[in-house]
Amino acid sequence: MHISAELRQLFARAKRVLVLTGAGVSAESGVPTFRGGGNTAVWKGMRFDVISSAEMVERDLPAVWEWFDYRRDFLNELTPNPAHFEIARWQERFAELTLVTQNIDGLHQQAGSREVIELHGNIWRARCTACGATYSMVQQQRPDACLECGEPLRPDVVLFGEMLPPGAFELAAARASVCELCFVVGTSALVYPAAGLPEIAKAAGAYVVEVNPERTALSSLCDEVLTGKAGEVLPLFQ
Ligand code: APR
Repeated sequence: MHISAELRQLFARAKRVLVLTGAGVSAESGVPTFRGGGNTAVWKGMRFDVISSAEMVERDLPAVWEWFDYRRDFLNELTPNPAHFEIARWQERFAELTLVTQNIDGLHQQAGSREVIELHGNIWRARCTACGATYSMVQQQRPDACLECGEPLRPDVVLFGEMLPPGAFELAAARASVCELCFVVGTSALVYPAAGLPEIAKAAGAYVVEVNPERTALSSLCDEVLTGKAGEVLPLFQ
């Protein structure tokens, strides 16, 4: 794997760095991706973007919980991989490291990353469908209903057809517009507005680097494409 001298120098002196991650950064931990590798996730005959939709919360909330409970149980057995740990180390290395993830698996936090901007929520939280109160499900059961207002709880994740958490994208975009170096790790860059962040960074003059074993919709925009697995490529920056 060749990393250019230009990138190594920039990595050595950069102060403001933004990292955008997708499902691929967790692939080596055993988390299936949604699209990479050509297949699409399906649950009980339903495509993942059907069961993971706002419309399904209205129509059949217990089914939505069954799907997310299954995924949470699956995730419970998994641990962060070298890519997560390397990114966590970068928060000590750079004056301003911004980590933006599309993942809901919480593996960045498990690896020690703090202040993670979660664009799509987190599978380890439940949220009240009425008042928005949130409940952690890390080593604890969720209450049957909201303890504040008694209304039903739903997974605190962004489902298809829903807006991102208020302020999350705006903060990420503000950081992208001032970063010097932007890493895009393990995303097919097909889902907006997340996929727009590297474009904002590029337009603001940042050096954009993609880490992915496959070419993506973003590759042609990048200053450097590192073709490989995140868990093997990112530790090369040590
Ligand atoms: N290291 C780096 N990248 C990898 C690895 C790996 N070990 N394995 C696979 N990839 C790449 C694939 O080549 C693919 O480009 O990760 C990407 C995963 O793409 P998707 O499955 O589309 O996941 P993502 O881009 O995160 O999806 C965005 O779509 O389904 C919604 O809300 C969901 O957050 C998700 C969003």
